[in-house]
Amino acid sequence: MSRLALGIVGFGKLGEAIALGLLGAGQLRREQIAGTTRSERSAEAARQRTGLAIDTDTPALVERADTLLLTVKPHGLPEVLESVRDRLRPDQLLVSACASVRTAAIEQALGRPQPVVRCMPNTPVLVGEGMTVLAAGAHANAEHLRTAERIFSAVGRTIVLDERHMDSVTGMSGSGPAYIYLVIESLAEAGVKLGIPREPATLLAAQTVLGAARMVLELGEHPALLKDVVTTPAGCTVDGLLELEEGKLRVTLIKAVVKAAERARELGRDAL
Ligand SMILES: NC(=O)c1ccc[n+]([C@@H]2O[C@H](COP(=O)([O-])OP(=O)(O)OC[C@H]3O[C@@H](n4cnc5c(N)ncnc54)[C@H](OP(=O)(O)O)[C@@H]3O)[C@@H](O)[C@H]2O)c1
Repeated sequence: MSRLALGIVGFGKLGEAIALGLLGAGQLRREQIAGTTRSERSAEAARQRTGLAIDTDTPALVERADTLLLTVKPHGLPEVLESVRDRLRPDQLLVSACASVRTAAIEQALGRPQPVVRCMPNTPVLVGEGMTVLAAGAHANAEHLRTAERIFSAVGRTIVLDERHMDSVTGMSGSGPAYIYLVIESLAEAGVKLGIPREPATLLAAQTVLGAARMVLELGEHPALLKDVVTTPAGCTVDGLLELEEGKLRVTLIKAVVKAAERARELGRDAL
């Protein structure tokens, strides 16, 4: 059997999105990616959907793959690590997307030095607009990080940060889409309140969020400056902004991220 560039252990929603992203971007060919699931039923369904070689034999996948991407749920990770420990090669890179699981915990479970890169993507990876933060474990070098970056850049943007920021990242970009959905829902509700039908109201809200985000990313301007451009003296936007300040939108968002990050830290203490 030919060697694989990437073996995806836990070929669920995230694993499939990444595989399809890599194929779509032309970064890997179909025969260079394979994956495993726990049940044959999920494997069969994934094979049907993607045409990729998906089965349930994780130890065999470990032997064939250059890099392993771990996309099982965190509670399933101990069993996976136990089943692959004796087959891993010392230089084989493990890229873990398991939320809250520290690289040191993975190294400890394996019982030996192993290059591990931890990553925290978010759900927009499913539409190729993810934000993934990567952090190197104690035995991962710059080349390992580049490999992990290449994988996740197929489904959005990536940056590398020190692992000590990962709980904060989880509370911010990891949970962030949920906060923004609430904002979109509320803006749309406002449109409905003012008589706009729900469907166009949702489109107005979502495209406004998308457009504002692209202005920040593409112009590289501070958001406060961009806000000032929209805000005409004695115009309507300033009246809207005053309502948001009175409703403490800023401090509420900051506190939401801090709370979620604290919870991520708590979950991390119990992981593995
Ligand atoms: N989805 C996202 O956008 C996202 C964002 C950030 C982080 N994450 C992290 O990514 C991981 C996966 O999330 P997901 O949403 O893709 O979950 P998911 O759709 O539930 O996929 C999990 C997959 O793991 C498989 N699995 C479970 N135990 C296994 C085992 N022992 N060996 C091999 N495969 C096994 C499952 O197979 P069966 O179906 O047979 O059980 C399933 O295919 C989680 O740790 C999550 O925290 C995901």
